[in-house]
Amino acid sequence: MKVTVFGTGYVGLVQGTILAEVGHDVLCIDVDESKVSKLKQGHVPIYEPGLDSLVKENYDAGRLDFSTDAALGVKHGQVQFIAVGTPPDEDGSADLKYVLAVAATIAEHMDDKKVIVDKSTVPVGTADKVYAKISEVLEQRGRSDIPHEVVSNPEFLKEGNAVADCMRPDRIIIGTQSKDAEEVMRELYAPFNRNHDKIIVMDVRSAELTKYAANCMLATKISFMNEIANLAELMGADIEMVRQGIGSDPRIGYQFIYPGVGYGGSCFPKDVQALIRTADSIDFEAKLLKAVEERNNAQKTTLFKKVEQHFNGALKGKTFALWGLSFKPNTDDMREAPSRVLMEALWQAGASVQAYDPEAMEETQRIYGNRNDLTLCGTKESALKGADALIIVTEWQSFRAPDFDLIKAQLRESIIFDGRNMFDPNRMTSKGFVYYSVGRKP
Ligand code: UGA
Repeated sequence: MKVTVFGTGYVGLVQGTILAEVGHDVLCIDVDESKVSKLKQGHVPIYEPGLDSLVKENYDAGRLDFSTDAALGVKHGQVQFIAVGTPPDEDGSADLKYVLAVAATIAEHMDDKKVIVDKSTVPVGTADKVYAKISEVLEQRGRSDIPHEVVSNPEFLKEGNAVADCMRPDRIIIGTQSKDAEEVMRELYAPFNRNHDKIIVMDVRSAELTKYAANCMLATKISFMNEIANLAELMGADIEMVRQGIGSDPRIGYQFIYPGVGYGGSCFPKDVQALIRTADSIDFEAKLLKAVEERNNAQKTTLFKKVEQHFNGALKGKTFALWGLSFKPNTDDMREAPSRVLMEALWQAGASVQAYDPEAMEETQRIYGNRNDLTLCGTKESALKGADALIIVTEWQSFRAPDFDLIKAQLRESIIFDGRNMFDPNRMTSKGFVYYSVGRKP
């Protein structure tokens, strides 16, 4: 099938590439000329394992192309995906200006039947707005005769695992009440719907809410565990034991109950906030979601508080080695990353940071530029040199079995603050470390 994808961000680029990989003829449109020309040369602007080779292979095979020409894009696809950003506006609501601009563009150029698919995470009611926008522009053109359907088809991929998630989705949500549009979507996703039926068809509003409900549920699990971790610490219990104890109940499950430094990234914080705002706008107070957000904001400050407490508030002039800057492993994404809250608090207190991350060094440089109190180090070992303590913020695989003797030799004092419970506290004590973690006794 011929498919057009508007927006070559995370969602659009991965989805477009995977659709090409299974044989569809995909054209991706983006307004950013330099991005488009880089993609044509095989340069993928994000770090996502496996994506660059897939982009290159499919581009070379002629199944995947990139362009800034929106008219060409509209002409190309029977299916038109809208996968542009929905950044939070000042009050945390999702800003729909890019989504509606694409809808208007599609309507300006379409001259035959199109199925328009909302792939971006958009508030309930957006598909109706997209439909209205398209109808309005078609009417202005005197072409109200052209049939069009708007389908909600939310994406559930995780950064760092996006290719696999997209290739083998748990479910494919199709929000439409049009049988024709449903058929088109079923054909499009048939290559991903083998073995057992993963397609769930529902009305548009339910599909839109499903996306928010999924992310908010996962964020709730994390905030819940962080809350219990704080309690465990105060009560002298071990959250890691509690985690295993409750995870073994299949109704609870082991996933997404890891306590830590709070959730970050471009999705959970934004989506929790957006659903709170949507609820507010219809005079409903989303009390639970507000608490989830509040707990998360507080959790992002817990590592700093432990550091501050250990040094009795005397952080001025101290230097900290920091391992892990991205909001989670296998990505260079620093959006809403807990490392930022920590670094900014350390700087505010007059301390310096020597930081290392396997992928997010360029991104950190881009965000913070050159400053005296930040040294970006080429290896995790060099970040340790002369530091007063090591702080681990992101659980990259390469941090799991470090050379503890080297850590001791390089640090001024043998202190580790671990925001991800990577090590066994007893082993750390026997190795001679003062070891702080989350939800366990120091
Ligand atoms: C999330 C969802 O997991 C995807 O299903 C969804 O499609 C995506 O948002 C989206 O809406 O686009 P993502 O933000 O890439 O994916 O990352 P996750 O792997 O879900 O991690 C989110 C945050 O939660 C990270 O900061 C991570 O460290 C934290 N987390 C996760 C915990 O603190 N504890 C856990 O047990 C799990």
